[in-house]
Amino acid sequence: MKKVSISGMGKVGLPLSAVIAESGFCVFGVDIDKNRVDLINKGYNPIPEEKSLSSLLKRNFGKRLFVTTNGVEASKEAQIHIIITPLSIDKNKKPDFKNIEDSAKQIALGLKKGDLVVLETTVPVGTTRNVVGKILEKNSGLKVGRDFFLAHSPERAMTGFAISRYQEYPKVVGGIDKKSTKIAANFYQRFCKEVVEAESLEIAEMSKIFEGVFRDINIALANELFKVCQELNINFWKTRHVANYKTNTNILDPGNVGGPCISVYPWFLINNFNVPLIKTARLFNDSMIDFYKNKVIELTKKNRNTKKIKNILVIGISFREGVKEIAYSRIFPLINLLKKNGFNVFAYDPLYSKQEIENLDLKYLDNFAKVDCIVVMNKYPSLRNKLLKVKNKVIDIKNSLNYRNY
Ligand SMILES: NC(=O)c1ccc[n+]([C@@H]2O[C@H](COP(=O)([O-])OP(=O)(O)OC[C@H]3O[C@@H](n4cnc5c(N)ncnc54)[C@H](O)[C@@H]3O)[C@@H](O)[C@H]2O)c1
Repeated sequence: MKKVSISGMGKVGLPLSAVIAESGFCVFGVDIDKNRVDLINKGYNPIPEEKSLSSLLKRNFGKRLFVTTNGVEASKEAQIHIIITPLSIDKNKKPDFKNIEDSAKQIALGLKKGDLVVLETTVPVGTTRNVVGKILEKNSGLKVGRDFFLAHSPERAMTGFAISRYQEYPKVVGGIDKKSTKIAANFYQRFCKEVVEAESLEIAEMSKIFEGVFRDINIALANELFKVCQELNINFWKTRHVANYKTNTNILDPGNVGGPCISVYPWFLINNFNVPLIKTARLFNDSMIDFYKNKVIELTKKNRNTKKIKNILVIGISFREGVKEIAYSRIFPLINLLKKNGFNVFAYDPLYSKQEIENLDLKYLDNFAKVDCIVVMNKYPSLRNKLLKVKNKVIDIKNSLNYRNY
């Protein structure tokens, strides 16, 4: 049985490990977070929102799936190695390669002739060749293309749907040479419905950046049209409904853009190229919090609220509904902006306990009657009836109170 090491047991890496184990490989999952590794080893599923992960873990754990903090030992055992550790951007929007570099170093120390290494993390173009490839060669003494194979296969998962995506979306695979592409494609065919071979590493890398930028720009377009509709006093959602109905038009939902993907990838291009459209869209989406702050001011004025300090509740800590994830969530800059404007701000999210919210340095409140205005960041069907009772003080960013939810 071929063995696979997977570096990064996060929201993508753990489901991926379970899917690969289920397809018959022996998988060694690696993570530097000892606490997370211990919990997984005790049978705890750290991603309950990921549909079918618990049953996959139950079936494979301890038989074909093992989780460890020892990346070098895992690499020594395996013939195929996947890196899916995150790449973040710092406060100057520059990518931080540290996690990927550390994963590559550990793999290199166990790398053998004939092994395949695949980078799945979304990265700036050239990273697989110039960062991962170089580290692997330097620390293993082996030569890429001659002794081992190297490919990029962008992760197209979405937290909560990581497992189903292997059956829904084609898996793109691009190698450093034709042999690497073929070997990687043969591997992914074992558990993905369709594999698409890209002509190079760089095409595979860039294809995922295309996806992120496409969504960012299209959400910016929706946001701009939303603002114009407000000025014209036209219902955006009803307009969007008829415009999109049975046509090629596909205006997306307006709203905040957060999370580790769409708000990060455009910077890989903005940092290095003249891309005014992409930059404008990125900054425009980030600036939506100003628009919502102004809506709060307008609404509290309209409701003739004369209290000196007004209480505002922001609902939605995660960057989107249905996932417990705060990376680049827009709630934090929105709350800071509201505070700067003199508001007393509370937070609530049905996925987070009071303690978890307070641990994030936010003030918890679940009593909707007690506040002067409520900003609903995402769609929360479970809160709909409660919010309808106070709807004259709700700013419903995603139109979630509407029955038809256009
Ligand atoms: N989450 C998504 O919806 C999503 C969607 C598409 C693509 N991706 C891609 O997947 C990548 C990973 O995302 P995620 O959501 O799984 O991240 P995550 O934050 O949930 O998990 C990352 C894990 O990697 C571990 N880690 C960090 N450095 C390590 C190292 N050197 N060795 C071993 N483990 C290490 C962390 O401890 C953590 O458990 C993203 O950067 C992105 O490129 C994610």
